[in-house]
Amino acid sequence: MKELSNQSNSKPRTFPYKNLIIELHPEVYDPAEDSFLLLESLHINPGDAVLELGTGCGLIALACALKGAEVLCTDINPFAVQLTRRNKDRNVHHLIGAVEIRQGDLFSVLKKKELFDLIICNPPYLPTKATERTGGWFDIATDGGHDGLEVTKRFLEGVSAHLLPKGSAYFVFSSLSNQFILKQYLKKQRLFSCIVACHQFEGEELNVYRVSPTA
Ligand SMILES: C[S@@+](CC[C@H](N)C(=O)[O-])C[C@H]1O[C@@H](n2cnc3c(N)ncnc32)[C@H](O)[C@@H]1O
Repeated sequence: MKELSNQSNSKPRTFPYKNLIIELHPEVYDPAEDSFLLLESLHINPGDAVLELGTGCGLIALACALKGAEVLCTDINPFAVQLTRRNKDRNVHHLIGAVEIRQGDLFSVLKKKELFDLIICNPPYLPTKATERTGGWFDIATDGGHDGLEVTKRFLEGVSAHLLPKGSAYFVFSSLSNQFILKQYLKKQRLFSCIVACHQFEGEELNVYRVSPTA
């Protein structure tokens, strides 16, 4: 496949995380408070089967592999998929677990029998009106639809079918989205939930939810 272009000929932006060097790309979400809150709330054991949906630059997926997890990560954005492949290649000598990368919409790229100990997602969660959309990849990373929960709801619909019996899923929720709708949706999907991490800004609170089909 033809390489999608990065910023002109300038050196790509990078940042360090533990012993990883992560390259960034203008068409891909830069890791932010939400990414790090999610990452730091995960308990990864060597050998865990981990699925990350919407991996962006691949930081969370690679950090899980650094701890020995076997990771499958996906993104709908082809720039993110290529960037994550580059980030895997440049850091592969530090990784204990393997990382596989696929492009596509949420669970659509999985086979029925692919099951995981952990499913992770920092979804696009900003409430967005149709008139606010520009159609770029950055929109795809942040646009949660009218209630901020469009991708989160599709994520919650799919998790039970891909979790191992004692597995759990983690996702980011913003107080800018509709918490009432989220709670109704968790009930509808028969998912047990708890908040495992929280970060407050001016006018916004970020939560990491852990959900599982059993209590
Ligand atoms: C908020 S960013 C999070 C990126 C990264 N996981 C992080 O925490 O820094 C959301 C990511 O989800 C991807 N995404 C949005 N909708 C998606 C979908 N339907 N299927 C797969 N990935 C999606 C976006 O391209 C973007 O990379």
